[in-house]
Amino acid sequence: MEEATDILYWDDSLALGVAEIDDDHRKLIGLLNELAINITAHQAREALAVVLENLLNYTAWHFRHEERLMQTYRFSGYVAHKREHADLIREASAFQKKFLDGEQDMTMDVVHLLKEWVLHHVMQTDRQMAEFLAEHM
Ligand SMILES: [Fe+2]
Repeated sequence: MEEATDILYWDDSLALGVAEIDDDHRKLIGLLNELAINITAHQAREALAVVLENLLNYTAWHFRHEERLMQTYRFSGYVAHKREHADLIREASAFQKKFLDGEQDMTMDVVHLLKEWVLHHVMQTDRQMAEFLAEHM
């Protein structure tokens, strides 16, 4: 039986010092953990589909939030950052479609991949953005 070992706990090492972004990230991690909990509890496909939809909707909203901030304050890394967001949305949407079509199962591998992506993106790409925003907002 799979266990929720990939649960990502919020701690200050993830904080980037821009409160509205840190708040979003806290919520995003919460939704990712909700997915992990539902998978390990062997919830039905329909329930997993709802949790996944919530996670992806919130992720898309959060990416637009960051992109608005980067544009407003004319951050030079905007285009490259936005591309990382678009790549993740494209991959996650492709997975979602396969899952809804019954071609792919939802496993903790999915949570693991998302967790690794989030950690890498937050600690590198978002950190650069946040350092700029903290000085210019
Ligand atoms: Fe980002």
